[in-house]
Amino acid sequence: MSAQIISGTEIARQIRQELSQEIAELKERHHLTPGLATLLMGDDPASQIYVNQKGKISQSLGIYSERYDLPATTSEEELLTLIDQLNGNSRIHGILVQLPLPQHINETSVLCAIDPEKDVDGFHPMNLGKLMLGNPAYLPCTPCGIQQLLIRSGIKVEGAEVVIVGRSNIVGKPMANILLQKNPWANATVTVCHSLSRDISVHTRRADILIVAIGKPKTITADMVKEGVVVIDVGVNRIGKTATGKSIVVGDVDFDTVKLKARAITPVPGGVGPMTITMLMANTITAAKRTAGLS
Ligand code: GUN
Repeated sequence: MSAQIISGTEIARQIRQELSQEIAELKERHHLTPGLATLLMGDDPASQIYVNQKGKISQSLGIYSERYDLPATTSEEELLTLIDQLNGNSRIHGILVQLPLPQHINETSVLCAIDPEKDVDGFHPMNLGKLMLGNPAYLPCTPCGIQQLLIRSGIKVEGAEVVIVGRSNIVGKPMANILLQKNPWANATVTVCHSLSRDISVHTRRADILIVAIGKPKTITADMVKEGVVVIDVGVNRIGKTATGKSIVVGDVDFDTVKLKARAITPVPGGVGPMTITMLMANTITAAKRTAGLS
């Protein structure tokens, strides 16, 4: 079987085209320019790449953006003061604090300090609670992007056996909640596996749709999936460099062997990654519309 390769790059490009049109209309009809602030603490190279991309894409869509690069030694109090200022800044509709944060910062305190209306990451307890209750305001960007990938690739989730490997607050847990929602783009039967699951392969072999977010290179192999599975690989693992110094990036799934059994599969890179950033832009537009009473 030759698997359909689900191109996140292409789907994200289509969605961004729609978003850029929507932003142009908001500017023209409502004099409203969505604004996003990104905060990066420390000098983690991967986080720097992500925040650079977020800034570049927001500008290309016509989103007003402010970027704050804070030294790793910044105190929690200073960070909270900055968030407080951004909460009160009317040009800023969305605030993104790039994770992970340095050890001396309490992540929960920081995420709770963001005004839930500006929480375009969807990580504030208020927004996670709304998601659990089935009335979400902002969906966390990576799982929201995965749902969009499935919808726009024509993959039916309703009634499907979905197995998620990984229970992080950023991907696994919100993903499970999104696909449990009572709506035609969800309504799945969801299983979540994690590092202490007794035998992950018992579950992965049952999956119609397998979503993997564990941060370990090529962990899911062909013997662990059934024929005709749809595979979504969230992993971004840098496993070395090419002779020319370029990073070699692989997913959590052994793409070359699993694709021979799969009905559809996302590549790494070019799968989930571009969707995450695009959903951040969509949430920023939603935040701007909500402040203006348009959503
Ligand atoms: N680090 C890894 N993924 C994410 C994300 O979706 N949002 C933020 N803020 N940080 C991250």
